[in-house]
Amino acid sequence: MRTKTPRESRTVMTDMVLPSETNPLNNLFGGELLARMDRAASIAARRHSRRITVTASVNHVAFNRSVPLGSVVTVEAAVSRAFKTSMEIFIDVWMEDRFTGERAKANEAIYTFVAVDDTGIPTEVPPIQPETDLEKERFDAALRRKQLSLVLAGKMKPSDATELKALFTS
Ligand SMILES: CC(C)(COP(=O)(O)OP(=O)(O)OC[C@H]1O[C@@H](n2cnc3c(N)ncnc32)[C@H](O)[C@@H]1OP(=O)(O)O)[C@@H](O)C(=O)NCCC(=O)NCCS
Repeated sequence: MRTKTPRESRTVMTDMVLPSETNPLNNLFGGELLARMDRAASIAARRHSRRITVTASVNHVAFNRSVPLGSVVTVEAAVSRAFKTSMEIFIDVWMEDRFTGERAKANEAIYTFVAVDDTGIPTEVPPIQPETDLEKERFDAALRRKQLSLVLAGKMKPSDATELKALFTS
């Protein structure tokens, strides 16, 4: 399989916040943002693998800033690392100032997607080669996050999480 770059999976979705998508404080409802991020991440995973992809886990979500009603929100997703059948997707959420047009980072998240065949069985994905400094940083830390996610899901023994152990022993 041809080695791909994060750039090839990059997915950008821009939309506004409507009244039906807000909480009682008139800010974007968290579940709505999770759904938008899941959609963008799913497209990025499909662009990388060219397979059916399913969300395996949401590894990290930080709702750092509230997003007011009427805001223009851009969700950017790209595969940060590909493993055998799974892919880590990094998602950055940007908010556009209504008056100045300036963009500010609102939130970020990290999802894991798995490529599957028509019967739902995990199937291999192409390798990935990061290009920029940020992509390299995200690529390098992805194995540690994968191990943490597997340990938390009860799918890996903590004693097998070599990358996590290295954090405390090096
Ligand atoms: C995701 C799914 C395909 C994994 O199937 P599985 O039988 O556990 O398969 P495996 O154990 O071989 O895992 C497949 C890959 O997923 C990774 N994985 C599984 N669970 C994971 C988790 N919680 N965190 C990170 N990676 C995970 C494994 O490490 C493996 O990666 P690799 O092949 O790149 O090394 C399966 O659990 C599934 O179909 N879940 C439902 C998905 C879905 O419906 N999502 C939408 C929710 S509404």
